[in-house]
Amino acid sequence: MTLAPVLARLDAGLDDALDRLMALLRIPSISTDPVFKAECDAAADWLVADLQGIGFEASKRPTPGHPMVVAHGGEGAPHLLFYGHYDVQPVDPLELWDNDPFAPAIEDTPKGKVIRGRGTSDDKGQLMTFIEAMRAWVAEHGALPCRITIFLEGEEESGSPSLVPFMKENAEELKADLAMICDTTLFDAKVPAITTQLRGLMAEEVILTGPTRDLHSGMYGGLARNPIHVLAKIVADLHDDTGRITLDGFYDGVPELPDEIRAQWQGLAFDHTRFLGDVGLSQPAGEADRTPLEKLWSRPTAEVNGIWGGYTGAGFKTVLPSKATAKISFRLVGDQDPEAIHKAFVRHVEDRLPEDVTAEFPNGHGAPASRMPTDDPAFEAARQALSEEWGMEAAFVGSGGSIPIAGHFQQVLGMNAMLIGFGRDDDQIHSPNEKYNLESFHKGMRSWARILAALAK
Ligand code: BES
Ligand code: ZN
Repeated sequence: MTLAPVLARLDAGLDDALDRLMALLRIPSISTDPVFKAECDAAADWLVADLQGIGFEASKRPTPGHPMVVAHGGEGAPHLLFYGHYDVQPVDPLELWDNDPFAPAIEDTPKGKVIRGRGTSDDKGQLMTFIEAMRAWVAEHGALPCRITIFLEGEEESGSPSLVPFMKENAEELKADLAMICDTTLFDAKVPAITTQLRGLMAEEVILTGPTRDLHSGMYGGLARNPIHVLAKIVADLHDDTGRITLDGFYDGVPELPDEIRAQWQGLAFDHTRFLGDVGLSQPAGEADRTPLEKLWSRPTAEVNGIWGGYTGAGFKTVLPSKATAKISFRLVGDQDPEAIHKAFVRHVEDRLPEDVTAEFPNGHGAPASRMPTDDPAFEAARQALSEEWGMEAAFVGSGGSIPIAGHFQQVLGMNAMLIGFGRDDDQIHSPNEKYNLESFHKGMRSWARILAALAK
């Protein structure tokens, strides 16, 4: 089964592929907000119908949360499992969008044509790259080049509560030789990448309560304890003056970068001045003695994602608040244990609570970091296929983001994952005006066609 006509078909069918992507993008499948439950369901239905149209045996599978989509097709080795997520992030602040986030459109920009809208890059545009490659393959050759399972999730952006139970219950059905995850970025606009290590995550909220109600800060201030002051100290104490994180035992299981990976990364032309300049910054923050790529890909972090309390509306209100809250997350690397980090964080907070202030931790969840074995020959085969499509040597890179399912595939199903995606750093995922370059979509589908050909050999 030859590749060239499949690539030609993808080129000729680009407009139709875009129409299909637009239809999926118009469905506001925001998983974290219960208001959009029916829309998540509709996105799953759309995908099932689309996959059945290609010839897959596809079904929507209920979970206690949003449904999974599972599809089977093709015969022969290897058996590949493709993963993507059809849910998207909320759109707020809506006023910062130039257009309706769910009315996607093609737009001309100085950096080329882009598809603008929520989910274009994370992850609907990406998951449609492999579906389009498979559609073209079947249209051209009447069959897929090997056995393929597709596994699409609708809760990735809201912590994937149903994922591990579903994987355990359906382990036999989902087990394949290798998982292919399309939810990452290129190294830069020109250089494709296979992500070989991801950071893990431990996220928790801390709610401090002092007085039983908000108080007049003149009548009570000076005598009554202010929980925002306590929270500010807790947050300030997360890092020392050199940027190291102070939690007890935090660095247990954090490895030094192996020499061969350090050498690989040194070979990458990463311009941190430009990377920061693009978002209005100039000076690297964080640990003093680490390189920029180490800080992004292989060092753990502690970040405050949100913090509030007291009066934050217009004007001024002299209030001494009853409560102060922060959402804090830790990116994890190596063998750092999310549960141990959670315990250390709780201790960090409790050690700093004065009399009369109590802390609640309602929400903790986490997933460890993961690393893939690049000596598996499939990695080199896919790397070559990518290099041919992009006309540049594909790089093995790390990623600072977290895709917990990569670790679950290893732990629950005993299979490694190859992470290949075509997003760009400036796609504004999780932000207003998210976009996906038309080139990412087009070359993405072509890349998958080539990778399928290379792996099915
Ligand atoms: N697609 C992203 C992960 C990602 C971001 C990979 C940037 C490569 C570059 C994914 O959808 C995501 O945002 N994941 C969350 C996971 C969390 C909610 C468990 C993340 O990284 O914050
Ligand atoms: Zn994603």
